[in-house]
Amino acid sequence: EFHKHPEKVDFSFNGPLGKFDQAQLQRGLQVYKEVCSACHSLRLVSFRDLTALGYTDGQAKTLAAEWSTETPSINPETGEPATRKSIASDRIPSPFPNEVAARAANNGALPPDLSLITKARHDGSNYVHALLTGYSAQPAALLKHFPEAKTGEGLHYNPYFANLNLAMAPPLTAEGQVSYADGTKPTVDQMAKDVSAFLTWTAEPKLQNRHRTGLAVLIFLVIFTGLTWMAYQNVWRDKK
Ligand code: HEM
Repeated sequence: EFHKHPEKVDFSFNGPLGKFDQAQLQRGLQVYKEVCSACHSLRLVSFRDLTALGYTDGQAKTLAAEWSTETPSINPETGEPATRKSIASDRIPSPFPNEVAARAANNGALPPDLSLITKARHDGSNYVHALLTGYSAQPAALLKHFPEAKTGEGLHYNPYFANLNLAMAPPLTAEGQVSYADGTKPTVDQMAKDVSAFLTWTAEPKLQNRHRTGLAVLIFLVIFTGLTWMAYQNVWRDKK
């Protein structure tokens, strides 16, 4: 078997009491913005949603203005859809005007929207980290047994990708590709963890509420079980 299962990352949101690490989500947004957004959209996330990561409304607006959003009107000179600066209520758009343009820029492959990718893939948070850090040379044994699996033109071998060869070139290749304001060392592994955490948040922004509700339910059930047991004892007290 050449397909690998992602290694487990020690994320702060793991486990029934896990919480997002807000500083990490901000770093992950930065990686998304400076690297991934060159090809991938986040169509289910609006700029104002980012206030949940600790930004003010003003910061969300400033961030939005760095992107542009298509309008329904046509630029009379070029015939292309006209664009305007994004505003806080806009979603994070694709850098490409349409699928044809996106495929043309990516060797025929379509960069998927990443809003729900950590849910769409099995073990998604670990998967995104493993995929980003897992590019390698093709094992000789693979080529020996399955010569037809040879990585094709414009493709890249990655044992974490379902069919082993994918169209995305390794997007994180060097330490310091982004520079973090909070002093975290931007190793490839760290950037991959941060962007996976951020994409876990985009796919499930209310994860913490779910964890908290689950805990409250469990505490209630423990108390209720105790009460039921005591009531049972009380009801049958005189019968032996
Ligand atoms: C596919 C993440 C940057 C182009 C993917 C997939 C993920 C992903 C999770 C889906 C793999 C799957 O289907 O299971 C990221 C992240 C990035 C990033 C987190 C930034 C760190 C880029 C960039 C480009 C790009 C900069 C373009 C230059 C593509 C393409 C695919 C893809 C074309 C489709 C691959 C295929 O189906 O063969 N990316 N990506 N990505 N990405 Fe990226």
